Amino acid sequence: MTPDSLAQAASLLRRGELVAFPTETVYGLGAHALDADAVAKIFAAKGRPAWNPVIVHVADVADARALVTEWPARADRLARACWPGPLTLILRKRDVVPDIVTAGTDTVAVRVPAHPAALELLRAAGIPIAAPSANRFTELSPTTAQHVTDGLGERVSLILDGGPCEVGIESTVLDLTGDTPIILRPGGLSAETIAHVLGERVGVRGANVDHRQENSEAQRSPGGADRHYAPRAEVWLADSADSSELQDAITRAASGEGARIGALLLDGGLSLTGVHRTLRLARQPGSYARGLYAALHTLDREGCTLIVIESPPIGAGWDAVRDRLIRATR
Ligand code: TXA
Ligand code: MG
Repeated sequence: MTPDSLAQAASLLRRGELVAFPTETVYGLGAHALDADAVAKIFAAKGRPAWNPVIVHVADVADARALVTEWPARADRLARACWPGPLTLILRKRDVVPDIVTAGTDTVAVRVPAHPAALELLRAAGIPIAAPSANRFTELSPTTAQHVTDGLGERVSLILDGGPCEVGIESTVLDLTGDTPIILRPGGLSAETIAHVLGERVGVRGANVDHRQENSEAQRSPGGADRHYAPRAEVWLADSADSSELQDAITRAASGEGARIGALLLDGGLSLTGVHRTLRLARQPGSYARGLYAALHTLDREGCTLIVIESPPIGAGWDAVRDRLIRATR
């Protein structure tokens, strides 16, 4: 990335073109958030259904407030403590935000990203930038510029390369429009941190709701719906406890015509035979999250037909990783 490419990216965005850019979580596919035609190009490039709203990225709190009708005390606290950072707030939208951005709902998702290149781009462009992750719908999110090129290629005018993403999984999406704050998607900022900053309990979507209700909620934040964040290969999430059963299943799968088996294991964890390619990640949630999508991209690119993933430990801090792994198996 050079000052030239940054200026060019800002000018393309202002003119309604698509630009992929780094954030601290994953790469985003950006468009002028107040230009409905520009945002329509995001949906076309991703193959994303119109019911799935996108996040609007802004440079600071003042720019976020310009997009919403209410700025509750909770938003103020969280923004002061956690922005720039991997936290997206759902708030009541103003009319300036086009319907296509919010999928026709009266709320908008806003966040200030922490990557210096994203912040420079937002300032240089001087507009809010709508950006989902820069991948085709249902495919893996990109954490390097190369991933974006592999997935979207010619569909994007310019890709700013800001190196590998530090956080590696998407932002936490927090709904602040109801009586209690509710996490719609676990992500880079933990529920514990949010609860600590707010000094109150935080709900999690899907906890204590019946199935029907959960499905209608999922429509509101479809990051929580269906197969998503998934590699092309079939995925097994394997508990290290039943490793002999697992080994038998792998041996059977490996004997299949054209089978190519990849494994994503923990440092010091399972050891398996009959696997064509093994990658390992650390037993620490931050470091695991940073490496997760890149590892899955690698196994996918190598043509694995089956990816065996060793379940990470149970416990606080692993919620967002576990959420992505479960979705990858669907
Ligand atoms: O880390 C991230 O959040 C990345 C980077 C690029 O910022 N972006 C990202 O965007 O993951 P995307 O579009 O892949 O996921 C956005 C999530 C989806 O689950 C979407 O349904 C939800 O946010 N969302 C967006 N607007 C919403 C709204 N008004 N109400 C409820 N959920 C919303
Ligand atoms: Mg996405």
